[in-house]
Amino acid sequence: MSDQLDGRVALVTGIGAGMGTGIARAFVDAGAIVVGADIDDAAGRRVMDALGGTSSFIKADVARVEECRGLVDEVISRHGRLDVLVNNAGVTKSLGFFDVTEADWDRIYSVNARGLFFLMQAAAVVMREQNAGRIVNIASVAGKGYRGTSNVAYAGTKGAVIAMTRIAASQLARHGINVNSICPGVTRTALFDQVIDELVERNGGTREQAEAKAVRGIPLRRVNEPEDIALLAVYLASDAARNVTGQSWNVDGGLLWD
Ligand SMILES: NC(=O)c1ccc[n+]([C@@H]2O[C@H](COP(=O)([O-])OP(=O)(O)OC[C@H]3O[C@@H](n4cnc5c(N)ncnc54)[C@H](O)[C@@H]3O)[C@@H](O)[C@H]2O)c1
Repeated sequence: MSDQLDGRVALVTGIGAGMGTGIARAFVDAGAIVVGADIDDAAGRRVMDALGGTSSFIKADVARVEECRGLVDEVISRHGRLDVLVNNAGVTKSLGFFDVTEADWDRIYSVNARGLFFLMQAAAVVMREQNAGRIVNIASVAGKGYRGTSNVAYAGTKGAVIAMTRIAASQLARHGINVNSICPGVTRTALFDQVIDELVERNGGTREQAEAKAVRGIPLRRVNEPEDIALLAVYLASDAARNVTGQSWNVDGGLLWD
């Protein structure tokens, strides 16, 4: 337990599973007051109840712009300020190039890119008044061209996150707001399990073979655990990262160099 984020109010999206759960837990351990959001009411409540203390939950669909704004309003009504936003909620599915439909495109973009932007915008309205704030966006190595990505539209959304992180960092710097993103490589979460199942369904073979193939391409031969991402998110939200902004950090066992 450290006090890196002592008393800071953090809004973390997609806390009902995977990385979001790990980030919420690491933030609580670092002393933050965490408001967790998720579209899945039961899972979100379960996670935040288990964290206990000053943490709380709000059900929200970040694909809906009015719900993004409502989330920030609710955090302010509960705690009076918002110090950190972690834009973690994201969706995908394993699809070949010719199989991506308009509905897939719209769903993936509405959560990963559009929702992420409008939540940044709503949070920045409050952070601008405070003249301080931290935004951490969860992108992906897919946004930097990782060939093992789940589909081309998903990669596009994550490239958009990296580009928006840079422009938001430059346009919000004058308001004391730092914006960075994290680019996870292969990470053991519910989404990882779902994509492995879909890969097996599309290409045949077993789950073990699909997982082994994903691990073979990783120089350190290790899949991330959610904690690997969470610890970097804590750092980016802490004072130690006060002069870091506009960056997109890979956590991927050495998959990509950029
Ligand atoms: N798992 C990986 O290998 C991997 C790799 C790179 C990047 N990422 C990114 O990391 C982030 C977290 O992924 P994960 O693997 O933990 O996923 P996950 O599916 O395990 O968990 C995602 C959580 O987000 C919630 N969610 C989904 N849509 C939502 C919406 N519209 N509004 C609010 N909440 C919503 C889900 O209910 C779930 O609780 C995503 O942005 C994902 O793209 C994952």
